[in-house]
Amino acid sequence: MSCVKNMRQWRLVLLILPVVMFLAPPFASGADGGQESELPYKVIEGKTGAATFDGYRRFHKVCHICHGEDGMGTPYAPALVDSLKEMDYDSFAVIVASGLSQPNRNIMPAFGENTEIFPHLSNIYAYLRARADGVLAPGRPSRLIPE
Ligand code: HEC
Repeated sequence: MSCVKNMRQWRLVLLILPVVMFLAPPFASGADGGQESELPYKVIEGKTGAATFDGYRRFHKVCHICHGEDGMGTPYAPALVDSLKEMDYDSFAVIVASGLSQPNRNIMPAFGENTEIFPHLSNIYAYLRARADGVLAPGRPSRLIPE
């Protein structure tokens, strides 16, 4: 029943919330170790730091299926390049952890237990914020320090 499912989801949120708070990156030091204080990403002239590039990779492994190449959205799910103009990291993390299943809306799955995603969420956020802020063009970015 959906009521039971909702309760399970809330239990998950309550379980995960402290972890999210703990993982919430202190952006003062930057996910990429950049000195650009409040910015969650490191992008210089369109080239990404390691964490932001990792976010690009992980986004295009999983999230792009619904949210579109480069975060531009699809008929199924919204453009995260627009959503992240407004959304802070904590709200983002809660949604990705527990998913969304609202009446008459398409389903956003929960990724709180996905070890390919959840422990690396700040990187995905960094990538999407760089896209939302317009400092990163669509497509595969180059890296500041190539492997
Ligand atoms: C199976 C399709 C699907 C996948 C895969 C998916 N999402 Fe979603 N996502 C959705 C849908 C549909 C919504 C809108 C749900 C709603 O509005 O109720 C959504 C909403 C969101 C929102 C809220 C956007 C807003 O404007 O309110 C965020 C943030 C988000 N997804 C992040 C992610 C991230 C990060 C990933 C990859 C880890 C991901 N999603 C993977 C379908 C998906």
